[in-house]
Parts: sequence; C-alpha cells; structure tokens
Amino acid sequence: MSEGSDLYFRQIQAGEMANFVYLIGSNTTREAVIVDPAWNIPALLDIAKNDEMNVVGAMATHYHQDHIGGSLFGHTIPGLSEFLELNPAPVHVHKDEAEGTSQVSGIAVSELESHEAGDTLELGGITIRLIHTPGHTPGSICFLVEESGQPGYLVSGDTLFLGSCGRVDLPGSDPEAMYYSLNHTLKKLPDETLLFPGHLYSPEGQSTMGEQKASNPMLRVTSLEMFLGFMGVPS
Ligand SMILES: [Fe+2]
Repeated sequence: MSEGSDLYFRQIQAGEMANFVYLIGSNTTREAVIVDPAWNIPALLDIAKNDEMNVVGAMATHYHQDHIGGSLFGHTIPGLSEFLELNPAPVHVHKDEAEGTSQVSGIAVSELESHEAGDTLELGGITIRLIHTPGHTPGSICFLVEESGQPGYLVSGDTLFLGSCGRVDLPGSDPEAMYYSLNHTLKKLPDETLLFPGHLYSPEGQSTMGEQKASNPMLRVTSLEMFLGFMGVPS
C-alpha cells in the first residue's frame, strides 16, 4: 500500500490446498470484508481482530469447497457457515453463484446477498467492484479494489492465476466463457493493476496485470480456438 492510502489489505495463506484468503478494508473506518473464508475461521478472524478491524461481510469468488467450506473427498472444510456463527454479517455472491453457494455451504439462498455484475461495496475510501468472470464456475467473480489516485488491486479467485488460469473441466465450467472473461474482461484492466490470485500456484503470490498480459499464455492467445486448444477442448 502506498503512502496516504486508506487501504487495509491482507493476503493470508490458508489450508492444505494453497488457498489465499483476503481481508480488504478501510484503515479509517476499521471495516473489512473477508474474501473466501475457509479452513481455519477462528484464526482468520483473529488476524482481523489483532489488526483492530471489524469484519462487516464475507465475499465469495465462487462456490468451491476450498473457498467457502463444505464437504470434499470425505472431509469437511470449515467455511462460510462457521464464519456466520462466529461473525454474523452479509455474505456477498454473484447471483449466478447463489444456488451453488447454498448447496455447498448449507446457507439458504435467501440468506445470501446476491449481486449483479458491476455492483460495488464501499468501505471508507475504498470501493470493491464485482466483476463477473464466468468460466471456472457460472458465477465466478473477481473483486477490483479501487481507491482514488491508487492502482487497483484485482482479487481473481480461481479465474486468473500467475502464469495460468482456473480449471474449465469441472461441473459448471465453461471454457468459452473463460476465454472471454480472461481475454476481454480482465485484459482491459490497466497494466499497473496488482493481481492477487485464489491460490499460491506459482513461486510468487502476486503479480501485475501488465506482467501477466506479457507472460501468461492464457492472456496471450490470439483466438478462442487457440485458447480451447490450450485447454484441451476438442473443437
Ligand atoms: Fe475453484
């Protein structure tokens, strides 16, 4: 964070699948949201508490168990439902992800805050913009953290990784939608935008959109056909 910034931003490694959880908020109002709370919820909330931040909401990039908790391979991963028990607050999802989030987390759809693409949350001088990036799942979203005069921060979930992108061979995946999410929606972001992915799948935990546009093969494809070829989708 640069000098004079109101942004409170923490990237936290969590769990056994190299997930990243994020705390994003305002240093002025001491309000933060938690992105993809999963694995050890008390430990995550302790981090916010030690930083004297009030967690006023949770945001889910998508409904997979390693991001929001749920039953996976016979194990139960704590997530959104434990978060709500310990820290009742709105849970923000894209409207196309509400049903899946409900099924995986056990939280009723009516208890979720369903959003349209482009919706924003304001925390002090910080704006968090929801960018709909379907492909990995139907309602996958990235969060663009904006502050006047500062570069944006993109929290990209399982849509864009450093040097790669999320899987598109899972139930609910759509390889063609992923191509447009990456090469039309996200590629338009300024080069100076800082990139924070949903997993540590690379030596570094963060990058910039400029670096990724220059080096990430999934952002360097020149056609849908080429992208589908990389993804192993028969044409
Ligand atoms: Fe995922």
